[in-house]
Amino acid sequence: MSSQLLCLECLACGSRLPAAVPRNLCDCGRPLLARYDLAAARDAFLARPTERGIWRHSALLPVGDPRFRLELGEGDTPVLSLSRLGQDLGLEALYLKDEGANPTGTFKARGAAVAVSRALELGIKRVIMPSAGNAGGAWAAYCARAGIRLRVVMPEDAPATVIQECRLYGAEIELVRGLLSDAGRVAAEQAGSGGWFEAATLKEPYRLEGKKTMGYELFEHFGDELDAVVYPCGGGVGLIGIDKAYRELAGMGLTDRSPRLIAVQAVGCAPLVKAFHDGAATAGEWPGAATIAAGLRVPRVLGDTLALEAIRRTGGGAMAVDDDAILAAMLKLARLEGLWICPEGAAAVAALPRLLETGAIRPSDRTVLLNTGLGLKYPEAVALAIGQSSGGSRRDRLNLRA
Ligand SMILES: Cc1ncc(COP(=O)(O)O)c(C=O)c1O
Ligand SMILES: [Zn+2]
Repeated sequence: MSSQLLCLECLACGSRLPAAVPRNLCDCGRPLLARYDLAAARDAFLARPTERGIWRHSALLPVGDPRFRLELGEGDTPVLSLSRLGQDLGLEALYLKDEGANPTGTFKARGAAVAVSRALELGIKRVIMPSAGNAGGAWAAYCARAGIRLRVVMPEDAPATVIQECRLYGAEIELVRGLLSDAGRVAAEQAGSGGWFEAATLKEPYRLEGKKTMGYELFEHFGDELDAVVYPCGGGVGLIGIDKAYRELAGMGLTDRSPRLIAVQAVGCAPLVKAFHDGAATAGEWPGAATIAAGLRVPRVLGDTLALEAIRRTGGGAMAVDDDAILAAMLKLARLEGLWICPEGAAAVAALPRLLETGAIRPSDRTVLLNTGLGLKYPEAVALAIGQSSGGSRRDRLNLRA
């Protein structure tokens, strides 16, 4: 079925804008969300087409003409039972959705597939974006396939593998001293002056649409039986996307239940966790952000209100874990379950004992951890994890920058 996209809507001021032209933020400065004719899309969802991957859900995606769909095998990632880890922790029904199986090795492929396809459909020729790394790699691959020119602005200490990945796909790279927020300012300046379309997280409405397909797949797998999702949260787009999926499913009358959404961040960069525990509606910029989980090093969260609202409405929670716990969790999952996950995914694993202790997750809860990427992309983290298990201070060995 073709796209049932109706318009773009600003949740802050209620503006509804036509979706047929490229857009960034609403005039009021807040993100725009894609809205669909859910009644019409319902039949398509129920028909469960035999196609695999995210484009099965094309009625609920923004690309109108199928000729513009870019496909590299994204979506329909495996849901794996973690029975040994579950037994170790006292969790009866623990699962991992392995987003490392996506093209370019992370869930960023979902967002890039949809947003770059839509950019192609809207005639955009040049895209600029800031990235902590993996989004840049994913956009580089899809822009290569689309023939769209891409410039990625990244912190100079982004993981070496993803810098190479972007170069391999032919993207222009600009490395900036500082954090993702600094890269964001550089990208915004260049977009303003150089005729580039800016595709920063949530400044562009369609990346979220790709990421929401994780929520559809969780619902297809678990139906109403899923109690909690533990998500490693940087800019929060994955979490906001899963929430949007469940709200659309509710809007189609397919469920009235959402799993509790639990955000995990790193102790060295935890703006959402702080805001959640402070009872705040927005998150401030985190000073001096530092963590081995590069994707979680997002000091300023543009989707803060959406993410915090989703966590609270679903009865979820938020928790920060430190880098040593992340590395230990990476090793534990490898050795207990044969899974080589990324440090961001390992943060979700590392949070489980405390989430159980605090009652945020109960032993009988059907719980899914999101592993957002492939551990293979992080050789430095693996060296640290193995080094840590054989003793010694990791900062002594690898002179890690803050
Ligand atoms: C592997 C990985 N996990 C998690 C995240 C955080 O994603 P989000 O911005 O959707 O919260 C990122 C972002 O760069 C990432 O690369
Ligand atoms: Zn607005």
